[in-house]
Amino acid sequence: MAELSLPFESRYFPLKKFLNMYQRSMEEPEEFWAEQARQLDWFKTWDSVLEWEPPFARWFVGGRLNASHICVDRHAKTWRRSKVAIYWEGEPGDIRVLSYSTLYREVNRYASVLKNCGVGDGDKVALYLPMIPELPIFMLACARIGAIHTVIFSGFSAQALADRVNDVQAKLLVTADGGFRRGKIIPLKSIADEALTKCPSVEKVIVVKRTDSPVTVKTPKESWLHDLLESAAQFVEPEPVESNHPLYILYTSGTTGKPKGVVHSTGGYLVQNYSAYKWVFDLREESVYWCTADVGWVTGHSSIVYAPLAHGAAMVLYEGAPDYPTIERWWDIIEKYGVSVFYTSPTAIRMFMGYGEEMLNKHDLSSLELLGSVGEPINPEAWLWFYQHVGGERCPIVDTWWQTETGGIMISPSPGIECVPLKPGSATLPLPGVEADVVGEDGKTVPPERRGFLVIKKPWPGMLLGIHGAPERYKEAYWSRFPGVYYTGDYAVRDKDGYFWVLGRADEVLKVAGHRIGTAELEDAAVSHPQVAEAAVVGKEDPVKGESIVIFARLKKGVDPSPELKKDLAGHMRRMVGPIAVPDEVHFVAELPKTRSGKIMRRVLKAVANNTSIGDLTTLEDKSSVDEIVKAYQEFREVKGKEE
Ligand code: WT7
Repeated sequence: MAELSLPFESRYFPLKKFLNMYQRSMEEPEEFWAEQARQLDWFKTWDSVLEWEPPFARWFVGGRLNASHICVDRHAKTWRRSKVAIYWEGEPGDIRVLSYSTLYREVNRYASVLKNCGVGDGDKVALYLPMIPELPIFMLACARIGAIHTVIFSGFSAQALADRVNDVQAKLLVTADGGFRRGKIIPLKSIADEALTKCPSVEKVIVVKRTDSPVTVKTPKESWLHDLLESAAQFVEPEPVESNHPLYILYTSGTTGKPKGVVHSTGGYLVQNYSAYKWVFDLREESVYWCTADVGWVTGHSSIVYAPLAHGAAMVLYEGAPDYPTIERWWDIIEKYGVSVFYTSPTAIRMFMGYGEEMLNKHDLSSLELLGSVGEPINPEAWLWFYQHVGGERCPIVDTWWQTETGGIMISPSPGIECVPLKPGSATLPLPGVEADVVGEDGKTVPPERRGFLVIKKPWPGMLLGIHGAPERYKEAYWSRFPGVYYTGDYAVRDKDGYFWVLGRADEVLKVAGHRIGTAELEDAAVSHPQVAEAAVVGKEDPVKGESIVIFARLKKGVDPSPELKKDLAGHMRRMVGPIAVPDEVHFVAELPKTRSGKIMRRVLKAVANNTSIGDLTTLEDKSSVDEIVKAYQEFREVKGKEE
C-alpha cells in the first residue's frame, strides 16, 4: 500500500471503510476503477482498463459511450424523466425549471441544429455564453454528436476570446445578444464580433437571444438560435465515441504567456467525476446541488454540468453576481430551491463574512446537508464561519483540492464513503485511486510538517489527455520536474496525521478570487500598452480575494508617469484579457530589479508589495533600483494608510 501512515485507529475512530477502499485502490487500481466504470452506461465495454505510456494515459480503451446519453438519456428513460434537472435563475429574477425529459428534448434539438450547421464528430465548437440553460444544453449537444466543446468564460475580452478560438481552431461559435451582470448587459455579441475579425476558422455563428438588446446578425454566416430550432429534428442518435475521444478542451493559465488547452477524455473523465461526486458530496438523485462557479471554468464543467447530471440530481444555475441586487441573493436561492449541497469559493465566503450574519438569519437554510469549498486555500476563520453560520454546525465542509488538469476532485474529505475528522483549512486525504505526496527538490517525500511540492504518483482516469496541439509542452509542464510523477505546481504540507494542507502556487501563477491567471500572460498584456517598456506582475496577499494583482512597470523613454496613465494601463488590461486582469496597484519604476543575466527578480518585487523580508540580493545587478522601489513603496503604503 502507498504510504498513508494514518494513526487514525488510535487517534480518532476506525475509518475502516475508507481505508479499505483506499488500500484496495492502490493495490489493484485497474480492478478498482473498472468497478467504478461499470456504474455508468457503456455501449461497448472496454478492451483494457489502462494503457499507460508515460506521460500519456488512456483509460477504458476500446470502450464506447456518450456523455449526453449518460447525463440525459439514461434518466429520461426512467421515472427521473419528470424530475428536475436544472433550476435556473436569471439575474433579473426570471426562472426556468427543466425536467430531465425537457432537457432530453432540448439536447436533441440543439444537436440537430449543430449537425445542420455542418458540425460533426471531432469538430471544435466554441461556446461564449452567459450562465443560461443554453450553455449546458449546447455542451451536451456537442457531446451527443462527438463534437468537442471549448467554453470560453464570458468575462474574457475579444482578444482573449480570439486567442482561444484560434488555438483550438473552432469551426462554430455560439454566443448571445448579451448576459446580465450587476444589472448591466454584457455585450457578448459585439465582443465576439471584434474577436471574429481575427478568427478565420469560424465558419458559422449561432446567437442566443437573452437580453433583447439590439444586435446585428449577419446572414448567412450568422443565425439566431430560435430560427435554427424551427427546422431541428426531435431526435439525434448519440454518437458512441471511444472512451478517449475528447469531450472538451478548456483553456487555463500556465507559466508562459500562452494559455494551455487542456484536453479531457470522455470515459475516464466521466468515471472520475461520477465516483468523486458520490464520495465527496454524497450526490444522489434527490440532491439539489448548487455550485456557484461559472461554467467557463473546470469547476463549472464538472460540478454544474457533468457530475450532477450523470447522477440524475437537480442542479442550480444562477446567472448573475452573488450580491445583486442585495447581499440576500444567494441565501434566497438556497431557500427557494431547497439546496442540499452548496459548493463555493473561499473568496465568496470571505466576502459574505464581511457583511455579517444577519443576512443569513433571515433565511431558512435548513435544507443544506453538505458544504464545499474550492479554488484556493481556505483560511480557518472563513472555514469556521461557513461551518457555523451557513451550515448551522450541522453540515460537514468538504475542502476539495483539484485543478483544471486533474478533471475531478483529488484530495478531499469523502463523507459519501465515511467522513474523516475535519480540520479547518485542510483538504484532508486523497480520494481512493489518488496517490498524492509532498516531495522536496530532490523528488523525495519530505518529513511531516515540512513544505514541499504536491505531486501525484499514479495516473487517474480524469487526468488530462494532453495539451491541445502541444505534446512537448504537456511533458515539460507536468512531467519533467520529477520524472514519471505529475507535478501540480502547488506547495503543500502533510501533517503528522497524514492530512494535506495545500498552501498555494509554487510557480508564476496567481489565484485572484480563485481565478487562475499566469503572471506571464498579464505581463504580455501590460507590455503591449504603447507607453510601457517593461513590466513585472506579482501577487499581493488580499484578505478577501486571496491574492491581488500588482504591476511594476518601466515606461518608455520620455513618457511621464501619471495617475491617468495608471488608469489607462488598468483599462488596457481589461481590454486585453478581461475584468479579472485589472490590477489593484500599478507602480511606475525607473528600473526593474534584475539578475546579472537579465532576469527580472519578481521575488524581490513580491516581497516589497507584501512587506516581507527581501532576502538574499547577491545575484542582483544593481542594488540602487531596489532601494528606490522600497522607498517609493513605503511612501505609497503611508499615503494609502492615511486614506483608509
Ligand atoms: C489551482 C487549480 C478545480 C478547482 C478550481 C480551480 C488551487 C484548488 C484548492 C483547495 C487550496 C486549491 C491550487 C490548484 N486550488 N482547490 N481546495 N485548496 N488550493 O481550478 O483554475 O485549474 O486552479 O487552484 O493552487 O493548483 P484551476
